[in-house]
Amino acid sequence: MDLSGLDKSRLPQHVAIIMDGNGRWAKERGKSRIEGHRRGKTSVRVIVEMSRKIGIPYLSLYAFSTENWLRPQDEIHALMGLLEHYLAAEQAKMMRYSIRLLAIGDRSRLPISVRRTLERVIDLTRDNKRMTVILALSYSGRNEVVRMVKRLASEVREGKYEPEEIDEKIIAAHMDTPDVPDPDLLIRTSGELRISNFYLWQIAYSELYVTPTLWPDFREKDYLQALIEFQRRRRRFGRTDEQVMDPAPSSLEASGIKS
Ligand code: FPP
Repeated sequence: MDLSGLDKSRLPQHVAIIMDGNGRWAKERGKSRIEGHRRGKTSVRVIVEMSRKIGIPYLSLYAFSTENWLRPQDEIHALMGLLEHYLAAEQAKMMRYSIRLLAIGDRSRLPISVRRTLERVIDLTRDNKRMTVILALSYSGRNEVVRMVKRLASEVREGKYEPEEIDEKIIAAHMDTPDVPDPDLLIRTSGELRISNFYLWQIAYSELYVTPTLWPDFREKDYLQALIEFQRRRRRFGRTDEQVMDPAPSSLEASGIKS
């Protein structure tokens, strides 16, 4: 893969992806939706691998939303199976390349065997330093806010915080991603112009990139195109063009603003 169009010094620190279009990919080919998810799993492997090679430290993948529990049982079952298989198959590679796995969402709803596998891989990879892959599983942005408010409210009740001292920093620390920088780039495949209840708090200043390519077809060249487009953007974080000297700082830190 020719990466010469990429400026290595201005890579996004965190890329988040809404992996959409598996069903449409399958339908267009007269295949079952599950076939679309199976091929989508290959795209996951390819994109994690490419992120590692390029040197993107954080990659978030929206793999299963809270709303996805409403899908037909056989599809849910197949998705859980694919997920478990992916985790078991990739754990050795995660160790070899120092990739840490994190999961966000309501884990309590996952089937017990998926949960056990997930927790085993999270535990096994916890000290890996080169890259962090964050799987959003049984996740929705609003559900995350609800869980965050409950946690924070009970800490206020215990006297840990006064209501007046609650600020953005305290809220961020109580979300599912306390030690993860906010996404610089949010990619959505399959052309829909929606956030679909993915990260809500964290994407306040993310650059959005939507491609018509369906997730099962999303490969290195599509990812490269998204990264190149990201590097063309001018991120202002609410300031004026004149104030922003760097044409496209790759993170809030680079722009001098603390997240
Ligand atoms: C959206 O396509 C995709 C999903 C609901 C699941 C994503 C899952 C994978 C890519 C496979 C396994 C995941 C991992 C992490 C190994 P859709 O079914 O909504 O497509 P449609 O909108 O075309 O119907």
